[in-house]
Amino acid sequence: MKLLGKAILTLAIAGIGAVQAIAQTTDKSPTDYLSASFHAVRRQALRDMMPANSVTVIFAYPERVFSNDVNYVYHANPDLYYFSGYKEPDAALLIFKDMQGAGDSAYNEVLFVRKRDASREIWTGKRLGVDGAKTKLGFKRAYNSEAFAGFPIDFKKFSEVIYDGLPADATGELAGLIKSFKEKVNAPTIDSELSGDLGFLYERATPELMPRVVAYLKPKLEKEAYKNSPIIQQLIAKPDAASLQDAKAKIKALLGGMQNFQNFTLALRGVKTPEELVLLKKSVALSSIAHAEVMRAVKPTMSERELEGILLYVHKKYGAEDEGYPPIIGVGGNGCILHYEENSAMKLDNQLVLLDVGAEYHGYSADVTRTIPANGKFSEEQKAIYQLVYDAQEEVFKLCKAGVPYADLEKKTGEVLAAGLIKLGIIKTEADLRKYYPHGVSHHLGLDVHDKGDYSGELKENMVITVEPGIYIPAGSECDKKWWNIGVRIEDDILIGKEKGTNLSADAPRTWQDVEKMAAQKSIFDAVNLPAIK
Ligand code: GLY
Ligand code: MN
Ligand code: MN
Repeated sequence: MKLLGKAILTLAIAGIGAVQAIAQTTDKSPTDYLSASFHAVRRQALRDMMPANSVTVIFAYPERVFSNDVNYVYHANPDLYYFSGYKEPDAALLIFKDMQGAGDSAYNEVLFVRKRDASREIWTGKRLGVDGAKTKLGFKRAYNSEAFAGFPIDFKKFSEVIYDGLPADATGELAGLIKSFKEKVNAPTIDSELSGDLGFLYERATPELMPRVVAYLKPKLEKEAYKNSPIIQQLIAKPDAASLQDAKAKIKALLGGMQNFQNFTLALRGVKTPEELVLLKKSVALSSIAHAEVMRAVKPTMSERELEGILLYVHKKYGAEDEGYPPIIGVGGNGCILHYEENSAMKLDNQLVLLDVGAEYHGYSADVTRTIPANGKFSEEQKAIYQLVYDAQEEVFKLCKAGVPYADLEKKTGEVLAAGLIKLGIIKTEADLRKYYPHGVSHHLGLDVHDKGDYSGELKENMVITVEPGIYIPAGSECDKKWWNIGVRIEDDILIGKEKGTNLSADAPRTWQDVEKMAAQKSIFDAVNLPAIK
């Protein structure tokens, strides 16, 4: 809807009614959001990790243009949401290690929020505002964001200012907030994508991973920030163990408080609390129901997008606000494209379809992949690859318990997949595995689909991770043609326990026999018969 012309007049007249409608719909809103006390306890947990006399600053994500004067549906910065519950743009959260000031007016946290604006709220919905930040989120001190510039805070008096990379594309009130922050702390301006990658390298890069790191970084040299980064240049030119160690020391010095931000948030967010697990389990459960339904509904005459529509219908039916990532629905060769998002093939025919689709429920993302035959029956070749991927997943499941080094999951996957592909005559040595298995087997799952968490140590109770082996054999591969265009990934979401993991996505059939059985069942979507477009 455009802001100009007739629409604004019509809506201006309807304005009062619209405000009443907002109040009514709010009454029927879900009641199972994270509680204010959850966020308060998380802030305290962060405070406990922070060094003496330090402050953490977290900004909202920028709004992003979809088209002309229409923005993408806003998605909150998961860190800001985790520590405050605030889901709107143009905000900043300050968490102090120690009480600031004295007596009744002392405080150790402040939330700056987007200001209320009746004329805008008619268009885009009710804003929480300062009062809501106090009454609903429990902040004793909350202000409109425009007050940040004049807020009496001397960042130089803190031992450390802990913050994330700052977005370079902020507009509006957020741009003002970030500008004041930079002036107040004299902050280094590091591109947020680069600082994210540097933080990731610091945490997770090992000498063995360097060939993959270099392959990942090289295409990014087109970007100014990467081209001008001596650390990136060094790692690409000299990707050995000594150079990596030296680069990590440089990253630590460069990122300073930003590195601590990553360390603290990954330690906290990587282990889920009971309140988070309720939402995460719901997100995964409803996504699994959607996968089961699509298995019943799929037919060779359908399109990739039609399957996407079925999955999304089920998500919405259960109240999911969003998807955790763009749905991947790839038939045949499209299933070999790891993050295929076009979903444009008009007909599935008798091929395999890879569906990597997970809902986001109250911020928590599922991440579930199933690979199914469009005609309900696996061919012998499809079945052989499917069974191999399944076997790898089963072996990795056995490692999903507290105390197991996270890296062991990848090792086990490599062993099982390589042995299986050698047996099928698709590769000759383990060194060739990466041609057909180019990604990792697992990541943390939570508010981000690729969530913050410890990737270098051991698994801990109440971590939630994916287990997602896959084999992808695009047309033209150096193997018998009969394997071409087979792409199989099976991905489940596992809650780590003391003795064993729990598969949260077990309601989506997983063995090839169960997939075929489900495909033989009737679907509620069989009855859909829409009119032809004239
Ligand atoms: N859906 C993205 C992933 O599996 O990591
Ligand atoms: Mn995944
Ligand atoms: Mn996935």
